[in-house]
Amino acid sequence: MIPLTLDTLPDHSEWARHLLDPVGDPPEDPEAYTDVETYEAMYGGILAEHRERGADPETTIRRVYAAGRDDPGAVSVRERLFLASPDELLALDRYALRAALAGVSADPDTVVDLGCGYGAALGSLAAAFPDAAVVGGEYATSGVDLARALHADEERVTVHEFDFHGDWTLLDGVDDALVFTRGAVTTLPDVDEVVDRFAALAAAGDVVGGVHLEPVDAHPETTLGLLRRHYARIRGYGGELLAALEARDAIEVTSVEYDAVGANPLHPHTLVRWRPA
Ligand SMILES: C[S@@+](CC[C@H](N)C(=O)[O-])C[C@H]1O[C@@H](n2cnc3c(N)ncnc32)[C@H](O)[C@@H]1O
Repeated sequence: MIPLTLDTLPDHSEWARHLLDPVGDPPEDPEAYTDVETYEAMYGGILAEHRERGADPETTIRRVYAAGRDDPGAVSVRERLFLASPDELLALDRYALRAALAGVSADPDTVVDLGCGYGAALGSLAAAFPDAAVVGGEYATSGVDLARALHADEERVTVHEFDFHGDWTLLDGVDDALVFTRGAVTTLPDVDEVVDRFAALAAAGDVVGGVHLEPVDAHPETTLGLLRRHYARIRGYGGELLAALEARDAIEVTSVEYDAVGANPLHPHTLVRWRPA
C-alpha cells in the first residue's frame, strides 16, 4: 500500500473533490446507497455473472471488491490514508473483521449478520465461531440468493429474507446470539428503532452482545473528520449507532475503535462492541 496525503485525496476521490469544490453535479446520486433498490440491482448483476461464469465463491468476492474501484484506490486505516489494490482492500477488510471478532469473550450459539448483503462476511463469521450457527438476514432478495449460492457448501450458514424495520422472526427462539452488522445500520432511516430491538434482546438475555463495523459519527474535529461528517450528511447516511447504543440502559459499550478500515476513506467503518449491561 502507498501512503496518501490528505492534500492529494481529491485526486483519488471524486466525492472529496466535489465536497471541497462543489461545482456541477455530484459524482452520483447522493442518496443511492441508502436505497435498497441500488443493492437489489447490484447483487442481481453479480448473481447473474456468478451463475453464468460458474465461478467459485472466492473469485466472485474478489470480483465484487474490484468492481467500480480504481486500482489502486484510496482507503483509510486508523485515520491514515493509503492507495490500495482491491486485493489489498479485501485483506484489510478481512483483517479488521477477524480482529473485531477476536475481541468477543463470550461464546455464542448463533451469530446473526443483519443486513448481510451478498454474505461477504458470513465465511469469516463461521471461521471465527466454529461451533456456532451463522445466520444472515438481508432485505434484497438478490442478495439473499447470492449469499446462498456462495455458501451452498457450508451447512452451518443459512441466509434469510429480513427487514430491520419489519418483524425479527429471524431471531425467534435464538439463545446466546451474537449480533453483527457491517455497513448496514448506516443506511437505515431509523437507527433508534433498531437499537431498541438490540436493547430488548439484551434485556431478555437472548444475546451475548453485538459487534458492529459501521460508519458512526465519532469524528475528530480535524479536516478529515469534518470532511467525513459533511460527506455522511450529504449522502443521507446515519452516524448515530454509537450514541444510540450508549444511551440504552440494557447495553454496555465495551470498545470503540475509530476508522478500523475505510474502503471509502470518507465513510470508514468504526468497530463498536457491546454486551448486555
Ligand atoms: C453497504 S451494504 C453492506 C452489506 C454487508 N453487511 C457487507 O458487509 O458486505 C448495506 C446492506 O444493508 C441492506 N439493507 C438496507 N436496508 C435494509 C433493511 N431495511 N433490512 C435489511 N437489510 C437492509 C442493503 O440491502 C445492503 O445489503
